Amino acid sequence: MLRVSILLCLLSPTLFCYGASNQSEEWWRDTFIYQIYPRSFKDSNGDGIGDLNGITSKLEHLADIGVSALWISPIYKSPMVDFGYDIANFTDIDPVFGNFTDFAKLVAKAKTLGVKVLLDFVPNHSSDKHPWFLKSIQKIKPYDEYYIWKDAKMLNGTRRPPNNWLSIFQGSAWQWNDQRKQYYLHQFAVGQPDLNYRNPALCEEMKNVLRFWLRLGLDGFRIDTIPNLVEDNRFLDEPRLPNTGLPDTDPNTLQHIYTVDQNETYDVLKTWREVLDETKGTKKLFLTEAYTDLQHLVKFYKYGSNIPFNFMFMGDLNNRSSTVDFKRAMDKYLNAIPPGETPNWVVGNHDQNRISWRFGVRRSDWLSMIAAVLPGVGVIYNGDEIGMENRPLSYAETVDPAGCNAGPNRYTLYSRDPARTPFQWDNTTSAGFSTSNKTWLPVNSNYKTLNLQAQKRVLNSHYNIFKKLVQLKKNPIVKEGSTEIIIVQSVLGVVRRLPGRNPIVLLLSLNIGNTVTDVSAWMNIPDRMTVYAADAGSGITPGSSVNLTRFNIPGSASIIFV
Ligand code: GLC
Repeated sequence: MLRVSILLCLLSPTLFCYGASNQSEEWWRDTFIYQIYPRSFKDSNGDGIGDLNGITSKLEHLADIGVSALWISPIYKSPMVDFGYDIANFTDIDPVFGNFTDFAKLVAKAKTLGVKVLLDFVPNHSSDKHPWFLKSIQKIKPYDEYYIWKDAKMLNGTRRPPNNWLSIFQGSAWQWNDQRKQYYLHQFAVGQPDLNYRNPALCEEMKNVLRFWLRLGLDGFRIDTIPNLVEDNRFLDEPRLPNTGLPDTDPNTLQHIYTVDQNETYDVLKTWREVLDETKGTKKLFLTEAYTDLQHLVKFYKYGSNIPFNFMFMGDLNNRSSTVDFKRAMDKYLNAIPPGETPNWVVGNHDQNRISWRFGVRRSDWLSMIAAVLPGVGVIYNGDEIGMENRPLSYAETVDPAGCNAGPNRYTLYSRDPARTPFQWDNTTSAGFSTSNKTWLPVNSNYKTLNLQAQKRVLNSHYNIFKKLVQLKKNPIVKEGSTEIIIVQSVLGVVRRLPGRNPIVLLLSLNIGNTVTDVSAWMNIPDRMTVYAADAGSGITPGSSVNLTRFNIPGSASIIFV
């Protein structure tokens, strides 16, 4: 079969072949992975904040939808400036989430349910309350060099930061410390000082952090913001981009040539891969978070990432994209995947607006369908499987530092709170998330109708569609077939083929109105096929057999045929 696929690849430049894998130990291949934002998943003790016991109580949901693994955003001890991404102890659990006994119960139950457990590894920075930082301020060895400290630049007798670098959360990336009489680098919040990977002792510490959690039975990690890990050590100003129209404090005014994607970052990743490979048992997984160009993205495979997140649905593509934009981005991406590696499709995460906000409510199932039909791994964010929507918040309600720092006029551009509201389990108090009426972020008022329990009762709900998509990933055609991305007028088509079998076909309409066309001729597929799944708004019934020689594709529809 593989030989035939290779032949097909050679025949047409639009074909992508995803090698039939003999890497059976790579359990994540052709599966969906599920991200849990722990503050918002399930609250077990009524304090309005989600916790580990809450997650454990809902693990059946993950087994039910059929995901292979859950990745939990940070649960470590934290002052919560960035809601857990500011870590005061890399090897302790914050009491708001629970303790090690709770964690052990979670891991044990997940194992019995056949769901792997991954944690977030946040290596770029710690909290400014981390004992290492407190000792670094006092220049106590070896901690004095654990962070990036620089002298001030004096201009006409005034103290200035060492260069023009800007924080991703707005304003200078340098903060003066009056005790040490130096500036420290923070590429995120002031409370998140950057760690110094040019210091060997720090590098060892972070490897030990990985070892600590691996001993507790983890199956891998998602590595946070890896491109920011190492900075150019000449500390030169970054070039200013012309005519952005943005305030000078906005990081998008600079071309980040010295603070991201440095060669040394990849070398550090390699050392972490070695740590994972030291560990016996199931093969360990690294997912890496990098909003970067394709060239830098695929380089992560070579240095030990199994899944360098593909964020095309969060950057290049949105509800203004054309079919050509989609086809070009997908082809380019698939063509860039090194032989034998796994592509991936990130549907949502805690840093991005909900899918319906990015692509429109009618298109809430689009991305999961793409992730299911195209080769490789799908990564979804809690709530994506029920089509949860953004809950807009006022500036006063905003708690995310990225939103708060942008100020009342610009916070909606940056705040991530609207996509972080509590999971909508049912139509009871606080959507079944908490027994308390007061939750850390407000529950979206649409929970009365948009919730998991209600969707279980509806045949063509997001939930039921998602379950079918997870099953589809196991189909040999999806696993091993060739891939073609075809434009059918303004409809985007994907065909997966294995010789001797009916293909699997995905249609996504970018049109508002109907498109009547001979899909069968355009895509070289059978005249009649069966609808495997279709978004509820399309009015198309799953299981029905349809004539594709003159098929009416409703506007915004997403349909899979088998
Ligand atoms: C990553 C996380 C984000 C966090 C940032 C700093 O981008 O996904 O939530 O704020 O890193 O750790």
